[in-house]
Amino acid sequence: MAEELHLQIKGLRKSYGDFEAVRGVDLTVAKGEVVVIMGPSGCGKSTVIRCINRLVEPSSGEIWFDNQPLHKLTPNQLVPVRRRIGFVFQNFNLVQRLSARDNVLLGLVYAGLNKKTARRWAEEALEKVGLAQDADKFPREMSGGQQQRVGIARALALKPELMLWDEPTASLDPILVREVLDVMENLVKSSGTTMVIVTHEVPFALRVADRIELMNAGQIVESGTPTQLFQAPLTAVGQKYLEIIKAQHTDIAEISRRILATPRNEGRITA
Ligand SMILES: Nc1ncnc2c1ncn2[C@@H]1O[C@H](COP(=O)(O)OP(=O)(O)OP(=O)(O)O)[C@@H](O)[C@H]1O
Ligand SMILES: [Mg+2]
Repeated sequence: MAEELHLQIKGLRKSYGDFEAVRGVDLTVAKGEVVVIMGPSGCGKSTVIRCINRLVEPSSGEIWFDNQPLHKLTPNQLVPVRRRIGFVFQNFNLVQRLSARDNVLLGLVYAGLNKKTARRWAEEALEKVGLAQDADKFPREMSGGQQQRVGIARALALKPELMLWDEPTASLDPILVREVLDVMENLVKSSGTTMVIVTHEVPFALRVADRIELMNAGQIVESGTPTQLFQAPLTAVGQKYLEIIKAQHTDIAEISRRILATPRNEGRITA
């Protein structure tokens, strides 16, 4: 049986003034597929992912989601469709004066759920990101990693059919990146939801992606499974990522050799 098409982008272009940031992107995503978009800073990744639910208005091209032409919908027609698409932002975008629970509840209430169901769905979503105990905390009382997990819970709570992630770990302290990537990896592996993920986290992408799309200068230049892509990259961007992968491997091996060679506690500073 042919895979069921869930999202299709055709000939997408976007200009900001005279500058064309996205120059003819085609992308198809099957139901349940996890597609990772990678590429150098400024190549147009955020623009593409934001055009999908029209947070950015495309200059031209078509966006089809579940056989609906999103590019043609009026703002009113878009509202119910956007509820079926979760978006996780780089900068969390939480409402500062609301608790974690209320940040998650807000979208559910807007979506017209009754209070009881909304509360249950919010609790379920907070539980999935490991924040059931922190639901009453305000953003200022949480670490960046916890705030981003609220951002993820908010997107999850509506039980979206498609989730879009725009560099969800990019604003985080490196120490906090891990906890968010772990939550993401669990979701990707357990939910079966269709996902488009923009990330610079190479090992994460290699683990979760069914397909990686490499962008450069407003276009998709190469795509394939992680293995296809990085065993024999065809483009300069692909080569660069392969170098990163190799460098990380070497570093990790080298560092662990050094750690193992160091007598226990020698040179360690402890609190
Ligand atoms: N609102 C805007 N007005 C003008 N130019 C913009 C705007 N948004 C993005 N651009 C430009 O469009 C290009 C693509 O930007 P975009 O944010 O899509 O890149 P990106 O691949 O997501 O980069 P990064 O990895 O740094 O997030 C960049 O050159 C950027 O400066
Ligand atoms: Mg971006």
